[in-house]
Amino acid sequence: MKYIDLNGEKIDIIGFGTYKMTNRDAESAVLSALECGYRRIDTAIMYENEEGVGRAIKASGLKEEELFVTTKLWTDVNSREGVRRAVAGSLERLGLKRLDLLLIHWPTPFNDEVWAGMEALKAEGTVRHIGLSNFLPHHIEELKYSVKPEWDQTELHPYFQNRGTLGYLQKRGIVAEAWSPLLRGGALEDKTIKAVAEKYAVTPAAVVLSFLTKEGVAVIPKSTNPAHIAENFRAAELELGEEDVAAIRALDTGKRSFRDPDNHGFC
Ligand SMILES: NC(=O)c1ccc[n+]([C@@H]2O[C@H](COP(=O)([O-])OP(=O)(O)OC[C@H]3O[C@@H](n4cnc5c(N)ncnc54)[C@H](OP(=O)(O)O)[C@@H]3O)[C@@H](O)[C@H]2O)c1
Repeated sequence: MKYIDLNGEKIDIIGFGTYKMTNRDAESAVLSALECGYRRIDTAIMYENEEGVGRAIKASGLKEEELFVTTKLWTDVNSREGVRRAVAGSLERLGLKRLDLLLIHWPTPFNDEVWAGMEALKAEGTVRHIGLSNFLPHHIEELKYSVKPEWDQTELHPYFQNRGTLGYLQKRGIVAEAWSPLLRGGALEDKTIKAVAEKYAVTPAAVVLSFLTKEGVAVIPKSTNPAHIAENFRAAELELGEEDVAAIRALDTGKRSFRDPDNHGFC
């Protein structure tokens, strides 16, 4: 496993995504992921699968301290008290005493209030780390904070390398994490990526994940297929040469495939 530095803490660079999994799917996929070695799990209140994730954690027999669990506040949370209530619900569904990382899922007009509520939970130890998702540099510049955001999870894959936001985050020591790192499977048919995969006798998914982690980006590939789950976890072992990295860098279109954080329509 490769690691990423989170304010001096070593965090697994490869975690496990759970978007669009039902509780039932999440229970079996997360258990499969934990059994093959993943220790970092990404969920969100909006995914409505925290219970399934919690059941998988319980079934794994792993201790809370051995894991790194992230969840995200949805856009309907708009006050400090709302943050406290939402986190209490997540902890109960997940069966955990504290969260490792709490993110604001998408920016809203209530960012400052919500962030103040998150800072309070961090101060009292209910949440170990606090961060953001889908925040552009200008959202971070505008945020009023006492505790600097530690993390930003954004759309990032070979066709949208999000260089502006990535550079901004890396310069400030904020962990950059890619959501939809495989472009929901769409990056795996690319002919450049397939050619690199053939060269190293690995799969296209391994090439994409290795590329992103080499760029210093944390990833959370999702899969419900145990073979894919295992293969993705091993991707950080692959070391791509500079010419292959350059070929994948050249695939960047600069265009996002999903919602624009400035006009996301979730609130
Ligand atoms: N913060 C946000 O707004 C936000 C937005 C989107 C996603 N996310 C997070 O990011 C995670 C990942 O993004 P995502 O779920 O959108 O998409 P993704 O991880 O880019 O792609 C998932 C798709 O790729 C396929 N896949 C995975 N590994 C594969 C492999 N080795 N070979 C072939 N196909 C493979 C999966 O199918 P199989 O199941 O068949 O393997 C699935 O259809 C989410 O689950 C979620 O935790 C966050």
